Amino acid sequence: MNSPTPLIAGNWKMNGLASSIAEAKAVAQGVGATSARVAICPPSILVHRMSEALQGTKVLVGGQDVHADDSGAFTGDISAEMLADAGAKLVILGHSERREAYRESDELVARKVLAALRHGLEPIVCVGETIDQRKAGEALKVVTGQVRGSLPPELNGKAFAVAYEPIWAIGTGLTPNNLQIEEVHGAIRTTLAEMFGEAAQRVPILYGGSVKPSNAAEILHACEVGGALVGGASLKADDFLAIVRAV
Ligand code: PGA
Repeated sequence: MNSPTPLIAGNWKMNGLASSIAEAKAVAQGVGATSARVAICPPSILVHRMSEALQGTKVLVGGQDVHADDSGAFTGDISAEMLADAGAKLVILGHSERREAYRESDELVARKVLAALRHGLEPIVCVGETIDQRKAGEALKVVTGQVRGSLPPELNGKAFAVAYEPIWAIGTGLTPNNLQIEEVHGAIRTTLAEMFGEAAQRVPILYGGSVKPSNAAEILHACEVGGALVGGASLKADDFLAIVRAV
């Protein structure tokens, strides 16, 4: 079986100013000969500047969200075309912070995925259960349901990633153990295979939620973990590079 190329993506969330581009440049300078693909997803207002600053380096730039439509009267939103025009190559979609704060449904996330595909952006689609769902024994059902609902059939054969991010692990310092991660990643792989057949083997399944230099190696070597989506620890070049080196 061909394992997918690992992807380490930094999600800066609503952090970073123009001066933070220096941190991204430090990542590009320090990344060296890694077998991973490396991406940083800054706030949309920094995407253009960061893309220019990282041009010709190994580090890709991504967005954190897009509107499902290509243009129109949607005050405050940005489209996939705009993100691609600014130099982004990837986009995080369906992050739990957006699913929760903006009531994003699986259906909406799937429409956003289609928007990303229309404009050549590689989607990183996030799924993950709450602590209550895990305690109720529903983690696998919730996560595989999100995978089925958020990934449209048009993804077949296209480059995309799924990120498993248990909501209770995001920004908390808590992480599932490797058995728990492997159980969910295995269920996601099975679901992807049911949806996309052979092509499913090429989809990296990232883990996200409190990944840091001290736990990265252990998590990244768990079965079916094809990289990481890194929040807090992606804001400092040294920490992010340590995670890249743990691949
Ligand atoms: P964290 O965030 O690494 O700060 O827990 C991960 C994410 O939300 O993508």
